[in-house]
Amino acid sequence: MIAKKGKVSIIDVAKKAGVSPATVSRVLNKTARVSPELTKKVLIAVNELNYVPDPFAHGLKTKRTRSIGLIISDITNPFFPELARGVEDYVSSMGYSLILCNTDAKPENEKRYVELLLNKGIDGLMFTSLRIGEDVIKSLLNDEVPCVLVGRKPENIEGLVYVVTDNYKGGCIAGEYLLNLGHKRFVHISGPLDNSAGRERLAGFIDTLKKYKVKEENIIIIESDFTMEGGYKSAEETLNLKPLPTAIFFANDAMAIGALQKFWEEKIDIPEVFSIVGFDNIKVSSLVAPPLTTISQEIYKIGQLSAGEMIKIIEGEKGEPIILEPKLIERRSCRCLR
Ligand code: RIB
Repeated sequence: MIAKKGKVSIIDVAKKAGVSPATVSRVLNKTARVSPELTKKVLIAVNELNYVPDPFAHGLKTKRTRSIGLIISDITNPFFPELARGVEDYVSSMGYSLILCNTDAKPENEKRYVELLLNKGIDGLMFTSLRIGEDVIKSLLNDEVPCVLVGRKPENIEGLVYVVTDNYKGGCIAGEYLLNLGHKRFVHISGPLDNSAGRERLAGFIDTLKKYKVKEENIIIIESDFTMEGGYKSAEETLNLKPLPTAIFFANDAMAIGALQKFWEEKIDIPEVFSIVGFDNIKVSSLVAPPLTTISQEIYKIGQLSAGEMIKIIEGEKGEPIILEPKLIERRSCRCLR
């Protein structure tokens, strides 16, 4: 009699390895620690039997879909594709898929995507803003939905794991750098101030200027929105100031690049007229004219680390907040006045 040739099951693997099906599942789904000897036996059996887990059956059994949602606010800001790439590379190396959603920083879009992703049975949600409202995030955490905040620091949400650059310190570095170059009149083009990154970069910059006794009247703050268009408009506003500043710190590179466009149209020489510092170090910042001096964030790494925390939480481990160091990248957009 010829034996019926069926699909290899997890039970076949378990029998061959001499372990229980639960142990096979633990090894393959990394849901619990298994000794190196048993892990080796399982992997050899998987290999010899050419076992391929059925993702649908897996989803039904574990109530997981092995998919993660990443909600970003502005796909046109090159910061986010680099970040998303870090997340995607990490989650796919761990057997998960990534669903990317762009909200244009609108709370109603964020809410719509969260509902859609939950209905699709997503295993975890990664946020890059809290526009949806802290109460919504709190209720997701209460319902034990794994969540990670990327690139922002939550102020009032206990237990929300986050991965962020030290934005306050980044603002301080920008302030110290421009002061050391001998600048005395400053403009800060901030990000939206309902956003912790915007507030912290501003606070670090202004505190540093005040620490070195820069007079209030020589510090102008223009609130903008982290977009290139916002940067362009804030450059127009800056040109109307009297007296003009000699140094401008932009809360991100996208705004600095938008402003460079305006200054180029007005034939204003950078750095002769204004010294400019950005924040992020997106790849294109080294390609603009003049190449932009900026405070760098390790964007790809933030994506990877956030994804790592996300998967830890999904798989039942405790996630940890991570804070990365900002660094000055000196290029050609600033002038020494000394
Ligand atoms: O929301 C956009 C900004 O926030 C990015 O440019 C980056 O600075 C992030 O922290």
